[in-house]
Amino acid sequence: MDIAKEAKRRRTFGIISHPDAGKTTLTEKLLLYSGAIHMAGSVKSRKANNHAVSDWMEMEKQRGISVTSSVLQFEYLGAALNLLDTPGHADFSEDTYRVLAAVDSAVMLIDHAKGVEARTLKLFEVCRLRELPTVTFMNKLDRFGMDPLELLDDVTNTLGLKVVPMNWPIGMGKEFKGVVDLRSKEAILFEGERHGAVAAKSKRIPWDECIELIGEELHDQVSEEMELVEMAGDEFTDKEFLDGKLSPVFWGSAMNNFGVEPLLRFLTEKAAPPSSRKTIEGDVIEPSEERFSGFIFKIQANMNPKHRDRIAFMRVVSGAFERDMSVIIGRNGDKLKLAKPHSFMAQERSIVDNAYPGDIVGLYDPGKLRIGDTLSGKGRLKFDGIPRFAPEHFSRVVLKDPLKKKQLDAGLTQLSHEGVIQIFYHPHRGRSEPYLGAVGMLQFEVLKERLKNEYRVNVILEMLSFQFARWVEGTEETIKWLEARRDYPVLRDRNNQPVLLSESLWSLNYALDNAPDLKLHEVEPL
Ligand code: G4P
Repeated sequence: MDIAKEAKRRRTFGIISHPDAGKTTLTEKLLLYSGAIHMAGSVKSRKANNHAVSDWMEMEKQRGISVTSSVLQFEYLGAALNLLDTPGHADFSEDTYRVLAAVDSAVMLIDHAKGVEARTLKLFEVCRLRELPTVTFMNKLDRFGMDPLELLDDVTNTLGLKVVPMNWPIGMGKEFKGVVDLRSKEAILFEGERHGAVAAKSKRIPWDECIELIGEELHDQVSEEMELVEMAGDEFTDKEFLDGKLSPVFWGSAMNNFGVEPLLRFLTEKAAPPSSRKTIEGDVIEPSEERFSGFIFKIQANMNPKHRDRIAFMRVVSGAFERDMSVIIGRNGDKLKLAKPHSFMAQERSIVDNAYPGDIVGLYDPGKLRIGDTLSGKGRLKFDGIPRFAPEHFSRVVLKDPLKKKQLDAGLTQLSHEGVIQIFYHPHRGRSEPYLGAVGMLQFEVLKERLKNEYRVNVILEMLSFQFARWVEGTEETIKWLEARRDYPVLRDRNNQPVLLSESLWSLNYALDNAPDLKLHEVEPL
């Protein structure tokens, strides 16, 4: 099998958005347009039952229907697309950020009535850090929203991102008639019913010939807007897009299927194929390389005591993955046989025989793997790790039975390696009284359940009022300055790097203004 050819046709991406912008709906519509499913509607039934409080329940549901899977693979126009789920509502966690370490492009979904919202901003910052090519989709045009030009300004100003519309909306709300392809100057007018269960019908008509169909007033208004956009003059270039410097913009209504096809086509034709990856020694591993390599970006445990398995999600970087192959873990040189690997097709999870760069494989993990581990077919390889992201929730552990201290320590260490939570220590109080940090509250639930089931330890978590964690960069004097103040504990992370916890942004800014040589990082410096 030609590895380079298979790699080149892969498109691995995730959708970033604020809750309720329409991610679930868009996901389903991408599947609908690719032909992977024929009738939309399963999402709704899933949502109705969606009271997830733990990843175990999530996992149980994944055994059920399509769209709940963490990874969906589907084909479109000769490309193999891998769509990775970025959990959003109650299941938002550090995993959501880590998934972005495993994709080559992102779709930024924005509700056009709301503009850039808080969660989108955060997720976009992670994309920027990785210089990920990002495509913007303005959703819910079937409702009334912001003026399209203002909306583009909002994205540019809030995110500091150059945007170039690829098409332009014709009206909005009940008047939403379609979009104009700004390259070909053809209108794509939507027809038919608006219930969205099957692909929408549309027709392409040269813009100049649309006056009668959409009315003179709307035609004039849209023509004027398009002129303004053209005057702004930013051109789309593949290079700027692939470097993450420019975001092409599409408009539509995921619910009604309007505008979904141009987005899917663009992803297929222009989104980034699998990229190379650097090892910590600085070697560049190309996807087309013969030697198999991959890395672990997510570990999900099944907390049902009857099925106590763990699945490690591996992104293939180079070479061809084969079922039952043996690999070497870069961190410690241990060998591991990858039996019963899973792939995630649109309809179901199934055993996978082969996978190529860009693909995601679910591996049964006997407890040997950690987030960020590199696996390779030959020799020891270590890619740059996956950084940790600033937690937003903090707690201390209260042990119900003090005789279980050993089990607790073992559990916390293992679970932090799996990325369930982050552990911090006070430098003077040592390792016996750790602080725990999580990006989403769900992570604490998972921690408690797993400590109980796997380590037989019952704990109470005492929540702390900190809201921010920042990695500290500075001199000894900086650290002394910080430690002398009482508003921030300066802790140490797993690598003994100083981390500051704070209750308010104000006190972080005060420190930045006053502490000598201080820099603060929201992402762990690797
Ligand atoms: P999420 O995964 O990003 O949280 O969003 P989701 O797809 O669940 O969509 C959130 C709500 O927005 C849903 O409404 C959904 O129907 C609606 N929605 C998604 N896309 C569009 C669109 O293009 N236009 C309009 N008008 N609405 C859209 P809901 O009331 O929460 O649920 P439902 O009863 O409508 O399913």
